[in-house]
Amino acid sequence: MTDFDPGPPPAAVLDVRLDDAQVDAFRRNGFTSIERITTDEELEWLAPIYDFLFDDKRGTWKGSYFDLARPYDADGDDFVPQVLTPEMRFPQLLETNVSRNARAISSQLLDLPAAELKQWGHMILKPPRVGGELPWHQDEAYWEEHLAYRAVGCWMPLDPATAESGCMTFLPGSHTGEVRVHRHIGDDPTVHGLVTDDVDGSAEVAVPIAPGGATFHHCRTLHRTPPNTSGRVRRAWANEFQVTPVPVPEGDIPDRPWLRAGREAWDDRSVYRS
Ligand code: NI
Repeated sequence: MTDFDPGPPPAAVLDVRLDDAQVDAFRRNGFTSIERITTDEELEWLAPIYDFLFDDKRGTWKGSYFDLARPYDADGDDFVPQVLTPEMRFPQLLETNVSRNARAISSQLLDLPAAELKQWGHMILKPPRVGGELPWHQDEAYWEEHLAYRAVGCWMPLDPATAESGCMTFLPGSHTGEVRVHRHIGDDPTVHGLVTDDVDGSAEVAVPIAPGGATFHHCRTLHRTPPNTSGRVRRAWANEFQVTPVPVPEGDIPDRPWLRAGREAWDDRSVYRS
């Protein structure tokens, strides 16, 4: 593997926690945001790591890089490329202000001890002008139907996240419902991204934030990001925090046909055959 050693993150520590009003707002709305989760210094350290993982569609492990909005084996430029578990290639990502603050805040939001939370990350990039939308979905719709989750996602942009570049957009209160019926974008299970139809988005809230700010959302909160119509890249690093999910009782396991179709397509990717 290509050699690149960014070393440890900068030493400067920033501690951020939510106040009670922010936690209450999260419980009501299913999302919240903060202006800063890290330092400028750490953002500068992070950018070359981020770019390294996306350059040459490198990713972390075989198959960890793919376009969320196009078939797995599509050629050419990607619309919404994603890299899974960057911390597997760069474990020092777990030592950052971002990780530490996101864990502490997720612990506040879930009302669970920080040490009990498992963390995994993913990075999503929207290229200038061609960066595609990610339509309405719930993150839990991507996960195992036979497990019950308690989870929060933290999303931090490295570039200005605006309505033009693809900022997070949430539907307040949607986290209290069930996981809705989803389907793969374009009804094509070889496209990883999911969408749920018939969402009344009239009450949606767009959350523009500066680099180094962060949003937090519940795993059932309906959210979307618009396309990147701006002239600059929109890079974001997301981290999920969850307790070990527990098995759903046999008779209560929901039917999620999109997961069955998606698993087959995932296992059939050419990256595994080459
Ligand atoms: Ni999502």
